[in-house]
Parts: sequence; structure tokens; C-alpha cells
Amino acid sequence: MNLDKLMQKRHFLTSLAVAAALCSPSAWSQEKFKIGLILPMTGPFASTGKQIEAAAKLYMAQNGDTVAGKKVELIVKDDTSAPDVTKRIAQELVVNDKVSVLAGFGLTPLALATAPIATQSKTPLVVMAAATSSITEASPFIIRTSFTLPQAAVGLADWAPKNNIKKVVTLVSDYGPGIDAEKYFKDRFTFNGGQVIDTLRVPMRNPDFAPFLQKVRDAKPDAVYVFVPSGAGAALMKQFAERGLDKAGIRLIGTGDVTDDDILNGMGEVAMGVITSHHYSASHNSPLNKKFVEAFSKANAGLRPNFMAVGGYDGMRVIYEAAKATKGVGGQALLDAMKGQVFESPRGPVFIDAQTRDVVHNIYIRKVERVGGQLYNQEFETIKDVKDPGKSR
Ligand code: DHB
Repeated sequence: MNLDKLMQKRHFLTSLAVAAALCSPSAWSQEKFKIGLILPMTGPFASTGKQIEAAAKLYMAQNGDTVAGKKVELIVKDDTSAPDVTKRIAQELVVNDKVSVLAGFGLTPLALATAPIATQSKTPLVVMAAATSSITEASPFIIRTSFTLPQAAVGLADWAPKNNIKKVVTLVSDYGPGIDAEKYFKDRFTFNGGQVIDTLRVPMRNPDFAPFLQKVRDAKPDAVYVFVPSGAGAALMKQFAERGLDKAGIRLIGTGDVTDDDILNGMGEVAMGVITSHHYSASHNSPLNKKFVEAFSKANAGLRPNFMAVGGYDGMRVIYEAAKATKGVGGQALLDAMKGQVFESPRGPVFIDAQTRDVVHNIYIRKVERVGGQLYNQEFETIKDVKDPGKSR
């Protein structure tokens, strides 16, 4: 090797060493504010991941990618909806990437599996999707911007008996949010003079609704009350029609997860008139929501945002405002700055209860109607500022 070549090689190696030093987490962590966004991006719950990632990116596009003088880095990871994977990724994000916030959590078991990592590392964990009441009690570092099933369930349990629905069979996914949805609907509906004549629970993964719907048909209730996670509503609705429950005069009611905006428009005639209660509809009538839906759709090839997107969008708002308040400092200070935030969301007014760290918002009673040739959940009644009823046990 001649001298020239040797010099070139040396220069190259020095550049490599400098680049390596610059890329080390310790060098970057001072200038960056990192958010680890863990979502199911593949598998049966991928629509939840897609909606939340799109909403988080929209928030950043609208609000800039620096906060408190630091560049915001959003690190998106696919947990394939497996709890052990979510937990492992969270650990890596905290230890290796030194994220200031863990966020996402598409399903209850994924949030529960990760709660100990938040507690041990004192890292705020923002739940943007999962909705079992007890999640916020699993770690003092958990904040929620999605919703809770008890919140969504009780409004409908008040509405139904006043609207000729006296006898109900409940049909829910057999895990945390389904059990919350069943319990809080049943207790309130029974208190209001209604009767729950059967409670059916279907497996959460790869459910075959047909045998359960046949049971509902045979029981001849006024309505079947349903909870299924986001994305599963289309299959349920299809089998509801195939089994002829609509023809038999059995109404379908439920929390708004079943008429999820992501898939509602593809459900067709059978969904018309379905009554649900929830915290967000893409047709929510406010200037802020109109702007949100338009921008989301434009940035995502016409996709309609659903309640998952709103949980993600509001979660980013809570993180950004907290980071501004602490000037980018993380840990307990960042968590404290998330508590008590009050703001207007595309869903309506939102409050993060400082005591429970859970979201307080309006619950709307909605009816599926055709608007401009498309199916929407049209809000027609508002129950204001609903706290999670699960917290007053
Ligand atoms: C949960 C998941 C959903 O998709 C949903 O719509 C509601 C709750 C959950 O696992 O907590």
C-alpha cells in the first residue's frame, strides 16, 4: 500500500469513528426528544396501528418536529399484537434509545404487559388505544388518551330502556374491554329496569360469531348489545345479516367499536340505523374536527380517521404540551405536566384527570345514517364530561 492510499484509509477510519460517536445515544439524547410508538402494524389489529401512526405523523406535520428546542424523533415499532413483544420493545426503547415517552398500545394485554417497564424506568406511558378501565391502575406512570369501555357502555344502558329495548343479550369479546363492556352495560341497564337474558363471550382472536348469533336469534331479545375490538365489526355485521337477525326484528346496539369509522362505509345496508355510544365520530360537528378529518384524509389517500386516530392525535398533543412545560425534561416532571391538561380535541372537550390519569370526555349516542352517499355514525345526543365509571368502585 503506498502512502496516499494509507492516508486515505486513515481518513476514512477517522470519519467512521466520528460518525459512530455522533450516532451514539448519549450524544444525541441531549438534542432529541424521543417518543417510542409501539403499535400492532401487522396482523389482525393492524388497522389500529395504521390509524394511530398516521394521526401521530399528522400531528407532527401540523405542529412541527421540534419541541422545547429539541428535535422530536418518533420511533415506530411493530409489536404484532403479542404482549411479550410489546414489553421487550419497550425495554429496548427505554434502555437503548433512551426515549422520554412510551406510547401507542393497541390492545389491553399489550398495555398491561408493559406497565412494569414504565414504573421501573419512571417513563411516562401514553395509552392511545387500549380501553379496559383498570389499565391506568397498573402503573402510576400511565396516562390515557383513548377511552374506557365503562364510559362508553353506561350511556347506551340509559338510552336503550327509554327506546323500547327492554330485553337484551350481550355478546362481547372475551377479554378485558369486553368484560368491562358487559358488566357496566348490564348493571346500569338492569338498574334502569331492563333485563339481560344471556351474556355471551366470544374468543378475542379469530372469532366465529355464527354460533353465538344463532343463540341470540333463538333467545329472541329486543336487541343484541355488542363489543368487539376495532376492525372486527365488519365480520360480525356480515354474520348478523347472514343469520337473518335483522329480519327477525332483533336490533343491534353496542359501543362504537362495532361501527368503527375505518370500516363502517363497507358494511352496507345492514348497518343502517344501528345505535351505538362512543366518544368519537368522524362526522362530529365541529370546525376542529372538520379540519382534522380533511387533513387526515388528504395525508392518507382518502382514509377516514376513526377513534383510534383521535386517541393517537390527542396523545401527541398531551406529550408535546408536557414537553414544552418541562423544557424537554422527562420522567416524573413530564408525567406531572401531562396530568390535568384541558383542551379541545376533534372529539370535543377533553380533560386528563390528574387524580386518575384517565381521559374525561363527552359520550355521544349515534345512529348510522347515509350522508352524501356514505355511512356515518350521526351523533344525536350528548352526555357531557363523562369520567370513567370504573374508577369509582
Ligand atoms: C381495545 C381494543 C380495541 O380495538 C377497542 O376498540 C377497544 C378496546 C382493547 O384491547 O383495550
